[in-house]
Amino acid sequence: MPTPNSILVIHGPNLNLLGAREPAHYGSATLAAINQRLTDRAHLAGVTLDTFQSNIEGELVDRIQQAQRDAVEFIIINPAAFTHTSIAMRDALAAVAIPFIEVHLSNVFAREKFRHHSYFTDLAIGIVSGLGGKGYELALDYALQHSPGA
Ligand code: DQA
Repeated sequence: MPTPNSILVIHGPNLNLLGAREPAHYGSATLAAINQRLTDRAHLAGVTLDTFQSNIEGELVDRIQQAQRDAVEFIIINPAAFTHTSIAMRDALAAVAIPFIEVHLSNVFAREKFRHHSYFTDLAIGIVSGLGGKGYELALDYALQHSPGA
């Protein structure tokens, strides 16, 4: 995988509340702060990075489809609760065939059983779960520096 020129970071439902929402699970950083760190890091590397958050499944599907028209080359996605329910978002990612990393702030495997299943993981390059906002940065570092199997 060559280094992507264009990266999209997608955040699913309720992640607009980061900072205030259940900090024991999700930390104290706001979504704006996380997005700013990612944008700054990508720009330093000369890469375009866009971010998108929605609470609405159809908007997330539309944004994934749009990514293909925009020639986005890599996606970092936290589908949030839709991780465990959304065949539609899974199908959209399969349709656009853009490589992606799945990120979760909390360790979903250490939580309720219904969070252990993801509709995304088997399609993803990899998953980062439980490392808080840092997980997005590690996913971005991978996109910027590594190829699968390297
Ligand atoms: C989450 C984990 C999901 O189970 C949950 O529904 C979320 C956030 C995480 O980032 O840890 O909303 O994706």
